[in-house]
Amino acid sequence: MDRLLLLAGVLLSLFSMSFAYDFYVGGKQGWVVKPDESYNIWAAKMRFQVNDKLVFWYKKGGDSVLQVKKKDYDSCNSSNPIKKFDNGDTVFMLDRSGPFYFISGEGDHCTQGQKLDVVVMAIRVPPTASPAPAANSVSPTTPPATPSSAIGASVSRICYGVLGLLMGVMVFG
Ligand SMILES: *[C@@H]1O[C@H](CO)[C@@H](O)[C@H](O)[C@H]1NC(C)=O
Repeated sequence: MDRLLLLAGVLLSLFSMSFAYDFYVGGKQGWVVKPDESYNIWAAKMRFQVNDKLVFWYKKGGDSVLQVKKKDYDSCNSSNPIKKFDNGDTVFMLDRSGPFYFISGEGDHCTQGQKLDVVVMAIRVPPTASPAPAANSVSPTTPPATPSSAIGASVSRICYGVLGLLMGVMVFG
């Protein structure tokens, strides 16, 4: 019985490790007015899937994150946000597939480059269930390749994994 529970804990930890990513927008630099690397160049290197999260780090009181419609993204219009966040540590759940648009709600930050759009892929396909990929396609389960932002994702996954293992050990003990 105890062994079964431990096994369940281990399985849970393995499952958690492949569950979802936290993406730190802009890597170490965070959500800033003039990023070294355009947010969309950053985003192009990432692979966003449903249930992944975007984490925006910025100075509380000095900036904000607005989720907006495409029209308002294109024109940097901050007057009709779908959602507004300004607590300095914004975690945004990508809860559906398709495009999401974000701009800074602060002054002229958006026109200076503080804007991001991401496209979330429809489903997280288990490797065994995907058909043989065409030569020019990329497996949807391939993790993001950029070190600066992959760090957060890996740390999060490891944390979940350790948590799962601890649960297994606690149940076992
Ligand atoms: C922003 O959008 C609102 C409503 O769509 C519009 O009334 C306003 O003129 C726009 N502002 C700018 C600066 O385009």
